[in-house]
Amino acid sequence: MSKITYIDGDAGILRYRGYPIEELAEKRNYLQIAYLLIHGELPTKAEYDTWEHNITFHTMVHENVKKFMDGFHHDAHPMGMVVSTVAALSTFYPDAKYILDEKSRMLQTFRLIAKIPTLAAFAYRHSQGLAYVYPNNDLPYTANFLAMMNRPSWTTSYEPDPVLTKALDILFVLHADHEQNCSTSAMRTVGSSHADPFSCAAAAVAALYGPLHGGANEEVLKMLEEIGSKEKIPEIIRQVKDGKRLLFGFGHRIYKNYDPRAKIIKKVADQVFEVTGRNPLLDIALELESVALSDEYFIKRKLYPNVDFYSGIIYQAMGFPVDIFPVLFAIPRMSGWLAQWQELLQDPEQKISRPRQIYTGYPERHVPS
Ligand code: SDX
Repeated sequence: MSKITYIDGDAGILRYRGYPIEELAEKRNYLQIAYLLIHGELPTKAEYDTWEHNITFHTMVHENVKKFMDGFHHDAHPMGMVVSTVAALSTFYPDAKYILDEKSRMLQTFRLIAKIPTLAAFAYRHSQGLAYVYPNNDLPYTANFLAMMNRPSWTTSYEPDPVLTKALDILFVLHADHEQNCSTSAMRTVGSSHADPFSCAAAAVAALYGPLHGGANEEVLKMLEEIGSKEKIPEIIRQVKDGKRLLFGFGHRIYKNYDPRAKIIKKVADQVFEVTGRNPLLDIALELESVALSDEYFIKRKLYPNVDFYSGIIYQAMGFPVDIFPVLFAIPRMSGWLAQWQELLQDPEQKISRPRQIYTGYPERHVPS
């Protein structure tokens, strides 16, 4: 049971703490949503100022994290770097083991929400062969992240484009939580053993990395680039219907209707393309959606575009390489994972996770002499 996120998969409804995702995406920023998920209520101005201060002043990481990051091969996948460095943070904060202490839980919550953009940006800069850019605590959360990603090494002043910053912030809102998905279940399972939250979060990032989950946005872009033109769409659809491949960005464990997040992302795309120029892959994606949604194979199986189908097109237009896309999913989902972890530890009935098994193996038998 959980009080955090409600999904009606047949109706395509998603609510955080009772508020429809459409209203939250329009009227609040990501850090306010993170507060809502963790505390259960939207913050007052005073509450938000304290929350933002606490997050802002935990964005730095220990200098040794850079040495750790530098140890990765030049072509290491950023998601692999983030999984590892999130886990490594547990060694810098031994106090995180006090998971039954409310104050300690909240301090680690500040640390993880604050540091995941820094780790993400460091992983990106390493993969690009660029110097690391430290957090600029004069910038708001999402702008600070974009500055760490894109600030040229030879200058100290850099203001990310406000339209792109707002668009990414909306994407962060949409990706913040999603009930008991695969990575959240990993967070809760590891959390149920009373492991520290950095180790729990590393397990969640690892689960998100999978191409059937958060790694799907990267696979969608590779699929659209492979398609290359509308003329190739019928062949791809045939391969999918022959069971030879998945249509990445389609289908969902729960949504048997259009993912409400995908609808909002399509609108954000228009705002981004005003600044970056239209990503030609959008035309292929739109045609692919139109063909799929009118095909019996997809209709019968209730396969609709999910959150990953359009997000990658925006990320690419913003200049991000595809292998950073899953990392862009992990940043906002950190607040959802932490909200769920906090809820787990506040449940007096909670016990260690131990799924029951249905045994289908041999009956007792004896080793031959
Ligand atoms: C996320 O859980 C969450 O909430 C996740 C997430 C979140 O916010 O945390 O929403 C984020 O992970 C979104 C999903 C991103 N993944 C992808 O886009 C990968 C492509 N999608 C599929 O792998 C698949 O749809 C899953 C994994 C998402 C769901 O798998 P299911 O539950 O097995 O799908 P299903 O039971 O609805 O499948 C029914 C049928 C099956 O065919 P049949 O055996 O009936 O012949 O549809 C087929 C499936 O094989 N099918 C697909 C398909 N998805 C399902 N066929 C082709 N392409 C697809 N994408």
